[in-house]
Amino acid sequence: MALAACGDADDRPPAPPSGPIPVDDDPIAREAYSKAVGAAVWSGHAREDDAYRRRLITHFTSVTPEDGMKWAIVNPQRGEYDFTEADAVVEFAEQTGKRIRGHPLVWDLQLPDWLEDGDFTPEDLEEILRRHVAELVGRYQGRIAEWDVVNEPLADDGSWEENIWYRALGEDYVRIAFEAAREADPEARLFINEIGAESRGPKSDAYLELAGRLRRDDVPIDGVGFQNHATGERYPSQARIERLFGAVRRMGLDVAITEMDVANAGDGRQASAYRAAATACAEARNCTGLTVWGVTDRWSWLGRDAEPLLFNGRGRPKPALDALLMPFSD
Ligand code: XIL
Repeated sequence: MALAACGDADDRPPAPPSGPIPVDDDPIAREAYSKAVGAAVWSGHAREDDAYRRRLITHFTSVTPEDGMKWAIVNPQRGEYDFTEADAVVEFAEQTGKRIRGHPLVWDLQLPDWLEDGDFTPEDLEEILRRHVAELVGRYQGRIAEWDVVNEPLADDGSWEENIWYRALGEDYVRIAFEAAREADPEARLFINEIGAESRGPKSDAYLELAGRLRRDDVPIDGVGFQNHATGERYPSQARIERLFGAVRRMGLDVAITEMDVANAGDGRQASAYRAAATACAEARNCTGLTVWGVTDRWSWLGRDAEPLLFNGRGRPKPALDALLMPFSD
């Protein structure tokens, strides 16, 4: 064959630049781990980078579209939806038996210009929000295990992020979004998701408080997501994560680590950070899984030099891989 795929010595043709993600390896069985072990995915990387695709197929049992379900991508013009990227990831997941986390329905980043620059009344925005949730959740009804319904609602000091939704609708935007999601897919587990709420501090306290309040107010929430974007210098200990998970369990809610990476750490500290989170999740009855924010360092959102993931740029496993998988493998 004239065009050999670079890297591994076999004669598979190179992956096509568009269309479905090829499944050219044996997918790992879901039962291989006690909980879902996920990765954030871009279909283009999976098609074009053999190492990325094969690690994804053989090591992860869950996927989250890394950006493919974000508002600016799925609804770039008012009234116009484009599900090309989201569909590619969802169809790949179904073909390989992987669980799917949908991410995110309501956030204040990666919004389309028509929405950010529009001159909308609160009533308009409520309607826009409801429609968006119904459109997205409805399209994938019955196929998405967990949705991040509201992403990053809080500021670092624990107050509400003064985003487009909060300014128009106050805290009620959260209830509106969860109710619309429940209506569009009664089976999906609905999560709130937050960044930087792992370590002790006002944001962490406010986040737990908010989750508890939503639950008491009968907002249809099922789970609390901790992103856990960590660094070698600063990552939550196993004991800390266990305390958070325990607090959420007492509210009657599930938890998940939704976007973990450990940037700028040596192998040892990186492995420790992943081991801490994986052990806490594996041992917590209410933890549904741990998702890593990418597959190989080459395509990390933090830049490849941050080396935050489980596989290096060429797809070689790092010590962090075993550290993360071991707790889910007993
Ligand atoms: C990141 C993606 O990885 C990037 O590709 C994109 O440019 C920016 O967003 N918190 C989140 C994720 O909830 O959606 C973000 O993902 C990372 C931080």
